[in-house]
Amino acid sequence: MGFRLDSRIKNAIERDGRFMITTTKGDFPLVVDRTEGDFIYDISGNRFIDFSTFISVYNFGGNSRKEVRDAIKKQVDITMHAAFTDFYGERPVAFAENLLKVFPRGFGRVFFANSGTEANEAALKFSKIFTKRQYTLAFYNAFHGRTYGSLSMTASKIVHRQNIGPLGPVVHAPYAYCYRCPFKLEYPSCGMACVDYIKKYPLAKDLPPNDTAAIFIEPIQGEGGYVVPPKEFITEMRKIADDNGMLLVADEVQSGYMRTGKFLALSNFGVEADIYTLAKSIGAGLPMGATVVRRSLGDIPEGAHGNTFGGNLAAVAGAEALLKYVRANMKRIESGIRERSKIVMKRLESMKERYEIVGDVRGIGLMIGMEIVKDKKTKEPGIKERDMIMTRAFENGLVMLPAGECSIRLIPQVEIDKKVLEKGLDILEESVKAVSKTRHT
Ligand SMILES: Cc1ncc(COP(=O)(O)O)c(C=O)c1O
Repeated sequence: MGFRLDSRIKNAIERDGRFMITTTKGDFPLVVDRTEGDFIYDISGNRFIDFSTFISVYNFGGNSRKEVRDAIKKQVDITMHAAFTDFYGERPVAFAENLLKVFPRGFGRVFFANSGTEANEAALKFSKIFTKRQYTLAFYNAFHGRTYGSLSMTASKIVHRQNIGPLGPVVHAPYAYCYRCPFKLEYPSCGMACVDYIKKYPLAKDLPPNDTAAIFIEPIQGEGGYVVPPKEFITEMRKIADDNGMLLVADEVQSGYMRTGKFLALSNFGVEADIYTLAKSIGAGLPMGATVVRRSLGDIPEGAHGNTFGGNLAAVAGAEALLKYVRANMKRIESGIRERSKIVMKRLESMKERYEIVGDVRGIGLMIGMEIVKDKKTKEPGIKERDMIMTRAFENGLVMLPAGECSIRLIPQVEIDKKVLEKGLDILEESVKAVSKTRHT
């Protein structure tokens, strides 16, 4: 315990409430002053271990690496912005070429955006332009962003959509959320009933397959609850897309950029998409998104899409420096993530055995979720319990983010010091234990 809600923090929160349009803040009183490496510091000098990476933006440490900051500073003194969608530039193209080197063979064109939602808007438009089809298949619990096209595919919370429709021509299908199977079956004896359902209903009754441009999928659902599907679910989506001339679009905004131990999360499933979207960590702290397209899909007509800030030179300078580090150290980073993933999963599995409120733990690499329930048998969502765990952990010096209805996401930077990682897990376990006890007394 160490956190004290002092008047400076209270004042900052009160003024936020008065002057800012409400967003999603509210879980706990974190007023950030700065972040460095494995830690976050608030305006009153409280230090927290960071298991949030500010929503997977700092996959390589708070405020990114020194060479990233140096590259940004250097570029800022030369020129920050040079209208890359209207004029030519060497640096953004060189970065795109290097980015393509970490993609599967055959990926050949890149569009730069400024956020995840914008990268997905581009992917949605491109998939329609390439196929000349209008519909899209997406999934329940998906989160692809909050602007109109992306929001049409997002279906994780009603509040995101309330009073906003009508939205675009998107049909949603159940995702393979096996812990809470919508068909109340168990994997693998279910025989992938969710895939049969998609074939039998959305694809047979709602979506003309020859007028459906794309299947949009998060390889692991993020905001929707850190849901890891069985491999067959992803391979079946690839097959459905192939059989019907649809494109498979992988939203790697949260799961990509080494988070799962591979540059692209979809690679864990042995599947390639036709279009990938990235954001968050690709910008290493500055706003950047990218839509990466299979070369064989061709190009779009001049003027059909563009933006003002895509390819912003300061953002590209930082992104380039981080990518250079990642490419040069790929093998070591991958094995480091495997090692750290084992440490986290072992601790969480042991918590799941010992505490009634830990319903499920799942993840790949360092994209790990823990689902909190009131009762293991009924799986009644432990929403209050999840919030209590997160608040107590925060008060003890650990910052985490929620996901889905009652899950917690554990997304430390992928090279977190192992002692700090263990300390963070100790704080988490202490919170789980304390909240478990409150339930029984
Ligand atoms: C999978 C996924 N797609 C898209 C987005 C939207 O990204 P942004 O908030 O940068 O628009 C997010 C944000 O959390 C995300 O997790």
